[in-house]
Amino acid sequence: MTHDADQDERAFFGRRKGKALRDGQSLLIEETLPRLRLPEGEIADPKALFPRPVEAVRLEIGFGGGEHLLMRMRESPEIGFIGVEPFINGMAKFLAVAAREGLDNIRVWDGDAALLLPRLPAGSLDAIDLLYPDPWPKRRQRKRRFVSERTLGLFARALRSGGRFRFASDIDDYVGWTLSRLLASPDFDWVDERPDDWRKPYPGWIRTRYEAKAIKAGRAPSYLSALRRAF
Ligand SMILES: C[S@@+](CC[C@H](N)C(=O)[O-])C[C@H]1O[C@@H](n2cnc3c(N)ncnc32)[C@H](O)[C@@H]1O
Repeated sequence: MTHDADQDERAFFGRRKGKALRDGQSLLIEETLPRLRLPEGEIADPKALFPRPVEAVRLEIGFGGGEHLLMRMRESPEIGFIGVEPFINGMAKFLAVAAREGLDNIRVWDGDAALLLPRLPAGSLDAIDLLYPDPWPKRRQRKRRFVSERTLGLFARALRSGGRFRFASDIDDYVGWTLSRLLASPDFDWVDERPDDWRKPYPGWIRTRYEAKAIKAGRAPSYLSALRRAF
């Protein structure tokens, strides 16, 4: 039995709702979200989900208020993005900016990313970003962490050969947790070579809301990068 074997199939344990939504936000959730939400069931061709041809599809899990995802969408209009965020207030905030800026290279999922991944075709994603996942720092909570052998297996299946996985966190114990699983995985190569590679943000990085809080509290982030081994 492996050390992650007790994790069940879900990986969402957070809040779905916070403060009451303002009128404009409720409208976005009622009208825009259903338009951009991924279809139920198996998704045959993720590239076909976008209103115009895209070169590749990237996934961001738990985008929070969407600061990083929006920046990547602006930076790479030729890429189709799938953003996953079950917290409805974060989703509303993200949709408001995407609509205001007329960004169309996006589809979203307001549920658990661990349940979405198996619905994507094998090898269909160019990249997966998991930025500041909920840390679950107490020992008894650790099995709730998004990263496990099982979810790394889901990532490996969904990524193309050579596809990129990024993981950022300010919780050293979670960084070590993820790194040990990446190193043990037959599917990934950890590509950071020097401390600067994981201490410095990714190219083009924008500070997320959660990262700003972590830095204010005196915690230092790590930015891990791994590549899907060739298959
Ligand atoms: C600590 S916050 C970080 C948000 C954002 N990435 C940032 O850096 O500001 C973690 C986010 O992951 C989301 N989340 C937790 N479990 C998830 C899951 N199983 N699938 C998708 N998102 C999840 C939460 O709703 C929350 O918004």
